[in-house]
Amino acid sequence: MHDLTKNNALNLKSEASEFFHFETEHDLIKILDRAENDQKQLQIIGSGTNTIFPRHFAKIVIKSTNNNFKYSEEGNSVLLEVGAAVEWDDLIDFCCNKRIFGLENLAGIPGTVGAAPIQNIGAYGLEVSRFIDFVECFDTELRITRKIKPENCEFGYRKSMFQNASNLIVLAVGFRLKKDFEPILEHESLQDTSFSKAQDMIDEIRKIRNAKLPNPKDFPNLGSFFKNPIISSEDADSNLKLEGLKKYHLPENKVKFSAGEMLDKLSLKGMKIRNIGLWHQHALVLTSNGIVSAQDIKHVEDLLKNYVIEHYGIQLEREPTYL
Ligand code: EPU
Repeated sequence: MHDLTKNNALNLKSEASEFFHFETEHDLIKILDRAENDQKQLQIIGSGTNTIFPRHFAKIVIKSTNNNFKYSEEGNSVLLEVGAAVEWDDLIDFCCNKRIFGLENLAGIPGTVGAAPIQNIGAYGLEVSRFIDFVECFDTELRITRKIKPENCEFGYRKSMFQNASNLIVLAVGFRLKKDFEPILEHESLQDTSFSKAQDMIDEIRKIRNAKLPNPKDFPNLGSFFKNPIISSEDADSNLKLEGLKKYHLPENKVKFSAGEMLDKLSLKGMKIRNIGLWHQHALVLTSNGIVSAQDIKHVEDLLKNYVIEHYGIQLEREPTYL
């Protein structure tokens, strides 16, 4: 048995009877042969910061060890290919040290580079899809490595086609970044700021995050547990229960509400149930306060969803995935 309790951000007790590391296509073909022979499926994991682990994995669990960086220049752009196993926040420091710019808004996000395109990580006015040049995947059905262009990734808010493509295993991600530092400051938290150095902006973003979100080392958590609901302006206007909540207008006549604010206004911030808490500074973040299982999380998830439907007529959508 391979213990995976320390491989997931919530520290859920979890184990797999079969676990392998892989780096290359060659490694994956060997693992795939074994899986087919044993009639088992594969489950790829990253650092478990957006996934909820079961007590026992029936699938063969695999994890990338590809920590490679490849770098080339093209005019004013830098093309950077980064192995799936690299920690996202290490990529932020790498880019800053090498004077490669673009990703500053995404400083401080936990997780691996390989996981970033899957939910199209985003924060402070930037989604990673804006800088993705390709996602290199091994296709377990075709048994070939494919470089998937962003226009085929179906990127959206916390969404991509990889979430429904169990045949694709991310090996590396290609980014098209910039040689010049041009900060993206449209987000409300950055409105009154200006930065001449990327490092200063990265420090500020990490500071804002640390002030609101629990440090996963001290308080195990998965970041935002629900997506912010996006509905049509018409639905928003006809739903009187939404009056008084902050509204963010989006293109195509859509409106976004803040799921955190909804839970907060229902006085759920700081709530504790089955060893799960809602963070006292941000109601959208569930933290583990002790021994917790995937079933406990599902219980709290359903409770919160029902409460929000009842009070706001809004169906919340979960952000992390149960494996
Ligand atoms: N709010 C409350 N009470 C709360 C929490 C939030 O009233 O308990 C209000 C805030 O005052 C603010 C609004 O809700 O006016 C939005 O809050 P915040 O700026 O913290 O952002 P968020 O919408 O809750 C999103 C992302 C975060 C990302 C931040 C910053 C989602 C689901 N979450 O959070 O991403 O870091 O914006 O851009 O879109 C993640 O995905 O795991 C994550 C942390």
